Amino acid sequence: MSATQLRQIDCIVGARPNFVKIAPILRALGSREGFSTRLIHTGQHYDVAMNAVFFEELRIPKPAINLEVGSGTGTEQTAHIMLKLEPVLLALRPDFLLVVGDVNSTVAAALVAAKLQIPLAHIEAGLRSNDRTMPEEINRLVTDRLSDLLFVTERSGIDNLLGEGIEARRIIFVGNVMIDSLHACLKRAMPARATLSDLGAASGLAAVALKQGFAFVTLHRPSNVDDPSKLESLLAALVAIARKIPLVFPLHPRTRAVIADASLDRLLRGSSIIIAPPLSYLRTIGLIREAKFVITDSGGVQEETTALGVPCLTVRENTERPITIEQGTNTLIGTSPDALVAAAKDVLENGGKKGRVPDLWDGNAAKRIVAEIEAYLSRERVPSVAS
Ligand code: UD1
Repeated sequence: MSATQLRQIDCIVGARPNFVKIAPILRALGSREGFSTRLIHTGQHYDVAMNAVFFEELRIPKPAINLEVGSGTGTEQTAHIMLKLEPVLLALRPDFLLVVGDVNSTVAAALVAAKLQIPLAHIEAGLRSNDRTMPEEINRLVTDRLSDLLFVTERSGIDNLLGEGIEARRIIFVGNVMIDSLHACLKRAMPARATLSDLGAASGLAAVALKQGFAFVTLHRPSNVDDPSKLESLLAALVAIARKIPLVFPLHPRTRAVIADASLDRLLRGSSIIIAPPLSYLRTIGLIREAKFVITDSGGVQEETTALGVPCLTVRENTERPITIEQGTNTLIGTSPDALVAAAKDVLENGGKKGRVPDLWDGNAAKRIVAEIEAYLSRERVPSVAS
């Protein structure tokens, strides 16, 4: 392909999990001739700890454009991104737009692409919790409806999309780019010893965690943390579990804010829980790899624990990632504090669930995606703006 036929691919990111997913895609696009890639950041996540450190560790180039939308309700965030993105895409006129995951930035960009008739691919399509109280579920449904190419991480995604009437030819099972990043970064992951010493030296908990082992915790879903009394009961459950095994718990800003506003930190004081700020990717995967088990409500962490063979207790009533339960190490325990304490006790006594790595979670998903985009652009004869 000559330089005049370069295809302009714009990639949208906004929030922390997007950064992990886009890194291998940008690498794969960069290694093929014929593409020019531009990264557009919506600015949904902006703290250094939620944003810049991920770019650095995942070796993601600086975005060409940052829309700097910042915080707001889901609707405000989505609307602000749309308003700021439309003129940018009208000016840049990409040949193809790529969105990842299920955050507000994903759906906002998908809506703008559809209105401007820019061909759109959704990476991580087809996942369904069937729970429309979850903001991400709305984002997934709308984004998939609007996408020209739907790249699926697990077979449940194919069934969900076919069931919603999406044409089979648009749906492609490629594996999981989250696991591409895991493979690419595991060698550089920070040993748990280093992170624990940095975080827990003062309290003396680091030494205990290193000797006895530890469990890793993340909680940030609105359904678990926005209601202070619900969060209080989950924190009480964590304190009870920490009597048996030290916990490492990096606080998402959403969770940290509710703890501060409702003065819930009194519960945590004196417990064997190492509270931390949001941790970098290399620290996080280093801790997950060495943890005895993980407690989470995150989507990505359910997948990372399955890929690493670490037992995972998911504090939710449902998951859009059923393969992590059917084949992986994940157990859905619901959101009752008693169930959480009982499940942790069971893992400590019986070693937790063993699993296997799902099909195509092999580190090569991004390469498959780029090959499919290339085929699509030549098949559909999308005229190149740059030609
Ligand atoms: C978003 C995604 C969620 C993803 C999560 C990962 C949606 C609907 N949700 O949720 O799917 O799992 O990111 O982190 O898009 N804040 C900061 N600093 C930041 C970013 C946010 O302090 O860098 C604060 C915001 O001001 C807000 C809160 O954290 O008060 C929540 O941020 P928001 O972007 O609304 O959603 P998340 O809960 O992060």
